[in-house]
Amino acid sequence: MNIFIKNAEIITMDKENPVISGGNIRISGNKIVYVGKDGVPCESDKIIDARGGIVMPGLINAHTHVPMTLLRGYADDLPLHTWLFDKIFHAEDRLDSDAVYYGAKVAMAEMIKSGTTTFADMYFFSESVAKAAIKAGMNANIARCVTGKEEDFKERLNEARALFDEYNCENDGAVKIDFSVHAIYTCGKQAVRETSRLCKKLGANMHIHLSETMKENGDCYAEYGKSPTEMFNSWGVFENKTNAAHCVYLSENDMNILKEKNVSVSHNPTSNLKLASGVANIKEMQEKGISIAIGTDGTASNNALNMFFDLKLCALLQKGIRLDPTIVSAEDALFMATVGGAEALGRADTGRIKEGNRADIIILDSFAPSLIPVHNPISLAVYSASGAEVKTSIIGGRIVMEDRELKTIDLEEAKAKVNESLKRMKLI
Ligand code: NI
Repeated sequence: MNIFIKNAEIITMDKENPVISGGNIRISGNKIVYVGKDGVPCESDKIIDARGGIVMPGLINAHTHVPMTLLRGYADDLPLHTWLFDKIFHAEDRLDSDAVYYGAKVAMAEMIKSGTTTFADMYFFSESVAKAAIKAGMNANIARCVTGKEEDFKERLNEARALFDEYNCENDGAVKIDFSVHAIYTCGKQAVRETSRLCKKLGANMHIHLSETMKENGDCYAEYGKSPTEMFNSWGVFENKTNAAHCVYLSENDMNILKEKNVSVSHNPTSNLKLASGVANIKEMQEKGISIAIGTDGTASNNALNMFFDLKLCALLQKGIRLDPTIVSAEDALFMATVGGAEALGRADTGRIKEGNRADIIILDSFAPSLIPVHNPISLAVYSASGAEVKTSIIGGRIVMEDRELKTIDLEEAKAKVNESLKRMKLI
């Protein structure tokens, strides 16, 4: 389909020309073919009048576990290790592929409704996540998470390989399959080495949890005498383009390794606060030139998948803890949630509104009171928008939501199936 968006305040995320006022965008197939003040619609175009509203790149959620919507609000207000080992892992043992499929659909509905067009997922029953993403029309980097201190990781790695063979580059490249080692505290040397080797052989991306808590670092030093970053580096993880979630406790040397290996950090401010893990040193990472993205983490630890919230929190948190309002500007935060996310996910063709890029675009309601007046569209997107202003969402040139109506997800069905699954698994 050809789409012509007119009369827009376009946030391009282009360094030279970040905002085009009164601009137009033309989409042909899955690509943006024109961005600027001119351009004329063709006869075959569907014309969308943004009525002076903000049109911006779809947000990129660089770290989540979408099926965890099933466990939203299931266990709150606990320390990470108690929460994870005593609550979440036990509940997860009861999940099945059907529950994950519909849980993922609810997550995708939430993401689309709050402006996310692309996400990176790490979980299991990942085939269900891939099927749901294809149906929803979302861009997704999906990884079957590998865990195991002994030989028990092998079956999981085989599943990860099968997932890659079946789903990588599906849906016109919208779905990419990553590899994942869960974390230093759940994986042994052999699991990490073999997963890293296979990832490299297949030219895929790696998605990990890294230095999320002080306990994780302390245990790692006690066991190996080195930091999680140093261990993963020595086991070959960073020979792959890696998306490392959290990175709350990094030493100077760790940061140098991440920079040298071109590792992207996905910062998860809400999850880190809710689990009282701490606050990542975003300013130091910026100064080192480390590429930073933003993630929500799963809904059991956030408890939402709304990137607008984490985007704002990212900017506010750094200012607050350093008593410096000039650091992590609105532009910086939005860059992380768009271009930084694209870099983390190995997707150079999204995150910016520019000719030749995939048409992953959201249109905000120009009559939303929270977006009036328009002094600075980037400031509005970061500090004023809540996600509810997202009116229309286009992913890969396909309209997946129009005037708040979801076009690719039957939410009523997904909700009923989620509740049915939870009853079956005795989780509700
Ligand atoms: Ni996580």
